[in-house]
Amino acid sequence: TTHSVQTTLLNCLFDYQDMEAYKDRVKQIHFELENSKDMTGWINYPLMDHKALFNEIEDLKSEICINADVFVVIGIGGSFLGARAVQEALSPYFGVLKEGIEVIYVGHHMSGAYLEQLIHYLDDKEIYINVISKSGSTMETALAFRVLRQYMEKRYGENAVNRIIVTTDPERGILKNIAEKEGYKQFAIPSNIGGRYSVLTPVGLLPLAVSGIDIRSFMDGAKNAALELKAVDLMRNHAYQYAVIRNILYNEGYSVEMLASFEPSLKKFHEWWMQLFGESEGKERKGLFPTCVTFSTDLHAIGQFIQEGSPILFETLLHFHEIDGDYDVPYDSRNEDGLNYLAGRSFNEINATSKQGTALAHAEGGVPVIQLEMQKLDAYHLGYLIYFFMKACAMSAKLLEVNPFDQPGVEAYKKKMLKLLKNEPLK
Ligand code: PA5
Repeated sequence: TTHSVQTTLLNCLFDYQDMEAYKDRVKQIHFELENSKDMTGWINYPLMDHKALFNEIEDLKSEICINADVFVVIGIGGSFLGARAVQEALSPYFGVLKEGIEVIYVGHHMSGAYLEQLIHYLDDKEIYINVISKSGSTMETALAFRVLRQYMEKRYGENAVNRIIVTTDPERGILKNIAEKEGYKQFAIPSNIGGRYSVLTPVGLLPLAVSGIDIRSFMDGAKNAALELKAVDLMRNHAYQYAVIRNILYNEGYSVEMLASFEPSLKKFHEWWMQLFGESEGKERKGLFPTCVTFSTDLHAIGQFIQEGSPILFETLLHFHEIDGDYDVPYDSRNEDGLNYLAGRSFNEINATSKQGTALAHAEGGVPVIQLEMQKLDAYHLGYLIYFFMKACAMSAKLLEVNPFDQPGVEAYKKKMLKLLKNEPLK
């Protein structure tokens, strides 16, 4: 059984000896991160005692599931991508988990059409809303909250206050002030944990619990990862190995990393991963460009480029050995399609074989292929994998000598947008 993530470079384009050269640097960064007080609260967060928090979230979840049909989460970036990723990965393709209710996300863009349709959709349903913002002043989130708060007050009158939940910084910010003034229920995002490292806090836990996911199992996975990935020795730490392989490939001229899965429910998980690495590493004119594909769908879209296009990318394959749910190929006596050789085999088995074939073909095409293997697509292993990626990301950014925890470049568009909205001169 593979409880941890196994990292393998399928085609050895470089000697594993190359990794040895990183040992001391990795050790130094490891202690730098462990001893830092600067936005590194996520490193030990899963190891802390959260029994009271889990009980509080589960009690609230029960209340919400009794009194509502839909839970609306308002947030953007790190304040929504993680919850949406895990929810989509673990929910049925059609419908919702029987232990939860529908969870809808808004406030992650400024589409008026989306908002108009959402309000219309909510009109005949009972709802709770959860606004999530660390800073408390992100425009997309704040605007959607303004609309939904008024909508709740119109629908529920003075009872609206019992259906509005705020997840924000425990000490400061506009949202914190509003929550205090109005008496909304609050959850804290620890001050030393930044947005894209916050899915294992109430930011992710409340929406996930309401969608029916077992948050204790999810956090158990994260906790085990936090314990195992404390290994200082590069040869015993798969997160650090993954970070080092990325760094070696980056230095060899590969500028794009493509995360690939063979299960469509992981599409949103890819998006969480892209934000984590893109926002942590893409600065000072450095960093791998993170992109993603879902196979075999995208083999018929972007597969040609991967196989024979510009040699700029390497591929990271996410593989889960067990996936709940499967279907067998039926025998057909007519066999007009010539597919009887597959009769009796399961789709998951065929999918796994297509993964093997794809990795071999891409490796032959000169694309380095890293494989990250996990035992099962479930809450426990996703908790583990999320922590694995966060640990690898912090190490990877430090190897590039950039700050993994800031995002100064995100301010540029905001400044221009505000000037335009306020009719101020652009320069
Ligand atoms: O990772 C980050 O810090 C960002 O993506 C933020 O999560 C995002 O900008 C939303 O910020 P806030 O939670 O302050 O509204």
